[in-house]
Amino acid sequence: MIENSMSMKRSFSLFQFFIFSLFALAQTISITTDHTQLVLRVNDGGRLYQTYLGERLSEQTDLSQLNMPQAGLSSSCIKGLEAYPVMGTEDYYEPTLEIHHADGNPTSVLKYVEHSQQGNETAIVLRDELYPVEVTLYYKVFPEEDIIQQWTEIKQDEKGKVYLGRYASSILYFEAPNYFLTEFASDWAKEMQMQSQELQFGKKVVDSRLGTRANLMAQPSFELGLGEPVCENKGTVLMGTLGWMGNFRFTFEVDNQHVLRVVSGINHDAGTYLLRKGEAFRTADFYFTLSTNGVGEGSRRFQHWMMNHQLHKAKDDRMTLLNNWENTYFDFNEEKLVALFGEARDLGVDLFLLDDGWFGNKYPRKNDHAGLGDWEVTHDKLPNGIPYLVKKAKENGVSFGIWIEPEMVNPKSELAEKHPDWIIQLPSRETYYFRNQMVLDLCNPQVQDFVFGIVDGLMQENPDIKFMKWDCNSPITNIYSLYLKENQGNLYVDYVRGLYKVLDRVQAKYPDLYMMMCSGGGGRSDVKGLSYFTEFWCSDNTDPIERLFIQWGYSQFMPAKAMCAHVTEWNRRASIKFRVDVAFQGKLGFDIGLKGLSDDDRQYCREAIREYKRLKNVVWSPNLYRLVSPYEGQHCVVQRVNDSKTHSILFAYDIHPRYGERLLNTRLQGLDADAKYRVKEICLMSGRQSWLSCNDKVYTGDFLMKVGVKVTSGNDLVSHIIEITREE
Ligand code: DGJ
Repeated sequence: MIENSMSMKRSFSLFQFFIFSLFALAQTISITTDHTQLVLRVNDGGRLYQTYLGERLSEQTDLSQLNMPQAGLSSSCIKGLEAYPVMGTEDYYEPTLEIHHADGNPTSVLKYVEHSQQGNETAIVLRDELYPVEVTLYYKVFPEEDIIQQWTEIKQDEKGKVYLGRYASSILYFEAPNYFLTEFASDWAKEMQMQSQELQFGKKVVDSRLGTRANLMAQPSFELGLGEPVCENKGTVLMGTLGWMGNFRFTFEVDNQHVLRVVSGINHDAGTYLLRKGEAFRTADFYFTLSTNGVGEGSRRFQHWMMNHQLHKAKDDRMTLLNNWENTYFDFNEEKLVALFGEARDLGVDLFLLDDGWFGNKYPRKNDHAGLGDWEVTHDKLPNGIPYLVKKAKENGVSFGIWIEPEMVNPKSELAEKHPDWIIQLPSRETYYFRNQMVLDLCNPQVQDFVFGIVDGLMQENPDIKFMKWDCNSPITNIYSLYLKENQGNLYVDYVRGLYKVLDRVQAKYPDLYMMMCSGGGGRSDVKGLSYFTEFWCSDNTDPIERLFIQWGYSQFMPAKAMCAHVTEWNRRASIKFRVDVAFQGKLGFDIGLKGLSDDDRQYCREAIREYKRLKNVVWSPNLYRLVSPYEGQHCVVQRVNDSKTHSILFAYDIHPRYGERLLNTRLQGLDADAKYRVKEICLMSGRQSWLSCNDKVYTGDFLMKVGVKVTSGNDLVSHIIEITREE
């Protein structure tokens, strides 16, 4: 083994590296957006370091003044802030890469070779002198949105087996007096619970090891206050998110010199990856912005970036809908559904979405115990099949959408009987079931074909299907792939890659299909997923009070257009107006039996849908101003402004105000100070007048932003939607 690697060493010319090292001397690489700058520099030994990350410097000649950073273990062993530290040599902190060579050597030392900067993309090639390992660091900037995307490609050319123990996308270093992390803890019906803490010496890890439904317990995003806790409108804050539909990991490590390292990437736990000769391992994409005006500015940047560069069909419209899940659950038939199409028409929504329970014959899907995997319509439930439903929906003036959960299988299904080898399951242990189901092995190309075939089959038969809700209710359990055999460490990563292959095919063949990413609520919610899906289901929890918090959380990174918000029966103590007004902030839908509503309530829903359609482009504007936080009291006020500042919408909610609470004016943001705006409450229950003192008055933008208006009250569960229109 050692002999083998020695000859490789010789063939990998030392002379070449001598030349590289000379060339590398004093190389400075600057990566800039409109307001942010990341500077990397090659030291005399040919190693690459971060020398600066902060506000963009005005004088580029100042870059030469940046010192090589002096952080690390102790003064005798300073190695600095290496751009991509590898485990096993002189850096004892959290590394980005761990590589085990075929001869058993567990180290690599990466040295600068060359870099290129073309357009908005920078690629920096690093290489090991002893082993044929090449690592390319990629940085893509989105200058106007002030977002930087980072990923890494790891290539190896050894003959034997080389394993990657870690494969992070990025490491960033910070030196601030103190560090405050906001994370988004989650669970079913409890998504995006924002929690903050000061980071002390040592490590804090936020990660997921669930495989599928990966964000069930933690979301792949964070906010980091540098020098002060995260604030809405002030302070320096790093906001980061990982684009990866699987296990992720963020490690925040404060070292003994109080330098903070932020390592982001795919979670390497249970994922020691066999990298074959000649193969390239591309890490996930990490995206970050560094705002000096708090998370409000950071959120607007992310929402603009999502709308301009990431969200699937971002520029296209979205459909309001009526879903039957909470109305019928599995208990429906053709007649019931056709009646619901009529309700959808009556309501004025664009689409009817048929949820779980329409398939399976040998094992009909009467509940969540059977049928998953058998994607044939249940004949005795829906004798005329899906084509009849699509036709009937059309006759009622609504489009048709359908639920699928294509990655999963119930053991009680024909699919499980026919293809046990397609299921991720341990051959020799008792099986653990999550929601009575198991995950299909998307590492296997045959399974990829099968999963693609589910969408394809439905679309071939029903080209008029406009929408699919792609659910994913189980994490990966019983982790063993028959297809991967002895390379089980590749499972989590190859699964996600298999899923991407399927979604790529779906997107290429059906570019007009709208798709909701759903995972037992918000168990999938990452920005890569949203490059395939047009929207996502934020949570099964549609209690409007809870939703104020959940939507507040998701709005840190996600645009309103992508956030599905449905009006349901959760928390009937809240009026229909309150429930609709909360859902109005996102991508509006209904999942409720209309027959159970009073005439006034039904009328309110119709009216709200009309107003929503009129105003949706303002509602979906990325210019979001979170004015009053539900985390700080008993009210929540959120504002959207269109790009030209001619139109704005204010959403105001009172939750459970305290007795005698002092009510302050809410100061607006983002308007044109010199312009005049009419303030008008819309979406009133029939026969009601607005009692807001600002209603139907005209103010300057200056006044609205400096003095503000009173839109909160001392009443329980009251809401207002207020339209603000620039006067000609
Ligand atoms: C979980 C989803 O979050 C629900 O909306 C619904 O589609 C069910 N799955 C169906 O099983």
